[in-house]
Amino acid sequence: MTTIKIAPSILAADFTRLGEHVREAEAGGAELLHLDVMDGQFVPNISFGPMVVEAVRRVTKLPLDVHLMIEKPERYLDVFAKAGATMMNVHVETCPHLHRTIQQIKALNVKAGVAINPHTPFEMIREILGDVDRVLVMTVNPGFGGQKLIHSTLPKVRQISEAIKQYKHEIEVGVDGGIDAQTIAEVRGYGADVFIAGSSVFGYAGGVAAGIKALREKAGK
Ligand code: DX5
Ligand code: ZN
Repeated sequence: MTTIKIAPSILAADFTRLGEHVREAEAGGAELLHLDVMDGQFVPNISFGPMVVEAVRRVTKLPLDVHLMIEKPERYLDVFAKAGATMMNVHVETCPHLHRTIQQIKALNVKAGVAINPHTPFEMIREILGDVDRVLVMTVNPGFGGQKLIHSTLPKVRQISEAIKQYKHEIEVGVDGGIDAQTIAEVRGYGADVFIAGSSVFGYAGGVAAGIKALREKAGK
């Protein structure tokens, strides 16, 4: 098995001291940082936009993994690329011309991910696998942090991790939502290698670094 990556989601950080929380995540060994952009349309919640991505870019060297939970994400790709995104994940549910949108992301020299909601079948992304750097499987309904993992999404993680074996380039399988020290080992067993975690990192009683450490330990070797 490949080594895992832990991606703390700043949605669960304390925004009055965001810089500090980001530095703690970096010092604690996070491989990347996850930034959840929500528009109050595709998802019920509104979070933040490019200004926050740009601010985070200034305080860390970690790759920035931007999750665009917005309608018509193609309108904002250049803006988030300029803000410092390393990877952008667009939802298959928001992209009728997904192939074009993925090519637009890559043309900006940004890695391209496709995110897929809990109820959306694997078949909806099968044809795009050869073009993406990451599949982001939503293990909760997007919109809020702190939700419970939906176990029925896990067989799809396995379907994806099996299907990507036929491609020569590296394709990450990320999972997003409800990942904590209790669930991470089980989810890893389905073939995920990137673990997005908000509450279980920034809400961890022992602090950010301890939260990351607990996840890594529980994920197993
Ligand atoms: C949910 C977001 C997640 C969220 C995860 O819409 O996409 O990235 O921050 O939060 P936790 O880890 O608390 O479930
Ligand atoms: Zn996310």
